[in-house]
Amino acid sequence: MKTYRFPRGFLWGASTSSHQVEGDNHWNDWWEYERSGRLPHKSGDACQHYERFEQDFDLARAWGHNAHRFSLEWSRIEPSAGNWNMDALAHYREVIRALRERGLEPVVTLHHFTNPAWFSRSGGWLRSDSAKLFVRYAEQVVTNLGTEVKYWVTVNEPTDYVMQGYVNGEWPPFLKSAWIKATIVFRNLARAHVGAYRVLHRNRPDLMVGFSHNASPIIPCNSGRRRDRAAARLRDLIWNRAFLQLIGIRRRNAPPTARNLDFIGLNYYKRTIVHSSGFGLGAILGRTCQLSHHPDHGPISAMGWEVYPHGLKLVLENFSHFGLPLLVTENGIATDDESLRRDFLVKHLQNLADALDSGVDVIGYLYWSLIDNFEWALGTKPRFGLAGVDYSSQQRSPRSVVEDFSRVCRENQLFLPVAST
Ligand code: FCB
Repeated sequence: MKTYRFPRGFLWGASTSSHQVEGDNHWNDWWEYERSGRLPHKSGDACQHYERFEQDFDLARAWGHNAHRFSLEWSRIEPSAGNWNMDALAHYREVIRALRERGLEPVVTLHHFTNPAWFSRSGGWLRSDSAKLFVRYAEQVVTNLGTEVKYWVTVNEPTDYVMQGYVNGEWPPFLKSAWIKATIVFRNLARAHVGAYRVLHRNRPDLMVGFSHNASPIIPCNSGRRRDRAAARLRDLIWNRAFLQLIGIRRRNAPPTARNLDFIGLNYYKRTIVHSSGFGLGAILGRTCQLSHHPDHGPISAMGWEVYPHGLKLVLENFSHFGLPLLVTENGIATDDESLRRDFLVKHLQNLADALDSGVDVIGYLYWSLIDNFEWALGTKPRFGLAGVDYSSQQRSPRSVVEDFSRVCRENQLFLPVAST
């Protein structure tokens, strides 16, 4: 047996986001698009977490977690421009209190994909004052909740948000290859981060403020082929570095001119293999390889994503070069195969431990997700939860993986037969 010990105070827990669990979020843009039929599924009651949060946090406590990540729903807090819903803020104060009562450190996200409908209807992140409006929201939040929370995530997966909404056209506002708009939105999200960082810190200087990045190691299809290597490098720059560059964080010992990031949140799900072919973007950035092209690939999840645990170590090592603490803000698998879920978790934790062993500063690991939830354009079919949710009765049923994860959370260590690496 090999024992991996995690650092003292390591954060262990799970993540959720407002629109995916709360239910009845009818002030936001996703809800509007769901109703208009533009999105194939309706979030409806989701997991009724807005009402059931205490019961859900009881599970987290019973499982030995000491942290929990959730997001504030901007559209509840500011349902129309400049009008603040004090009840919504009071609700989130209760949520934070409920977490603290159960010994769970709150990790609070300000923006997790959804926007207030009024904001989107008037141009959303293309608005030249979008960052200012976001910072005004952050200011309200900080005035009402600021001193109670130490860990903040300003924006969840800005790169993914822009790609899905403005390049792939799969998420609101469904624009395809709108590269100029994508750049504007990306820049505004970076400004929003920096503005929110300052406002949050004004209240409590010891805060830890970061953003969450959907981190994927970008691997050339054929490492002996120069074109593939060049495409992988460029893609890595755009996907994994551009947002950090925009907010002024450069690699390797170059201290930021003004501090605007305390940790990097990493969401890790899969690797990206790229093959450069033809002309234009396909040549420069490469095309993502179909897994059938790599017959030695790992198991495939219900999302069609390859299980590639070593990728977690790769991204942790890669992002450690920015010289900031790292927090795994999401990592999980959608599957109905519980032995695959267990294997996924154990192997990813092992890679996390390996990264720590090699000196990477990781401060916590938050599993995606606490409970099954509304997986955006795919609806409720993908099952990511540590507990399953029966959407007709809203019953939560802990899955077998909970036993393994709880042991790690409680003991702050991982036992493994050496051969299982
Ligand atoms: C991440 C999102 C999260 C969830 C998982 C599966 O990219 O941040 O909301 O959808 O994927």
